[in-house]
Amino acid sequence: MIEIHTHILPGIDDGAADWDMALQLAQSAAAQGITDIIATPHHRNSSHYNPAQSVVTLTEQLNERLAAAGIAVTVHPGQEVHLHRELLDHWQKGELLTLANGPYMLLEMPHSRVPEYMESIVYELGIAGIRAVIPHPERNAEVARHPDKLEQLVELGALAQVTSASLLGGYGKGIERLSWSLCKKGFIHLISSDAHHPVRRGIQLAEAYEQAERQLGAEWSGYYRDNAAAVLAGKPIDAEFRPALQKASGWQRIRGLFTS
Ligand SMILES: [Fe+2]
Repeated sequence: MIEIHTHILPGIDDGAADWDMALQLAQSAAAQGITDIIATPHHRNSSHYNPAQSVVTLTEQLNERLAAAGIAVTVHPGQEVHLHRELLDHWQKGELLTLANGPYMLLEMPHSRVPEYMESIVYELGIAGIRAVIPHPERNAEVARHPDKLEQLVELGALAQVTSASLLGGYGKGIERLSWSLCKKGFIHLISSDAHHPVRRGIQLAEAYEQAERQLGAEWSGYYRDNAAAVLAGKPIDAEFRPALQKASGWQRIRGLFTS
């Protein structure tokens, strides 16, 4: 399994505080069968500034420590780039990273809204050969009210990544319901833990894929897994793929009466 969005690099954002915590996160990933992790520290949000070269250097150091500790996980560089108007300029100047040096960039919006210039940035990135991956749209207040806002971004070429804990109820019933609903509409292409801390916001990827298989069917969970591998390998992702939703079991239908 491949984990595409984590705050595993120590001491540079609100994720792992130190090397011990980074190694614990990697250890828990390895225990779930994860072989590769993309490190995506916050960049250019209100509190954190982590330009490309500093992320690459710290990623190399973490890989050395993982090898020394015998933890069979490889970490790749990336960033969670906060949306900002000069983004294309900063990309051209070499300040930004894509995910594992491929054609996908993790592009975070504010939680409260979808800024009006998001569409033009997604479009311009596309012209530059980069596909935006929108993390946790299920936690964006405007997407929650108007899921068609996310659909418009997907139609422009963006992909969307739901957070494991959202699917598993960690952010409450409302976000859980919205997350599954976005999945069923075909607006979600990737699942990731967005892990920050080994205990409080840990890696829950295997559990989320299992739940996706139960709720949506094996084809969907396979689609999400394959897409994470495609991100790492820099291969294309088919955002139009819509496997048939599996028929709900009797129990799931009854549960659905109370949860939807
Ligand atoms: Fe994140």
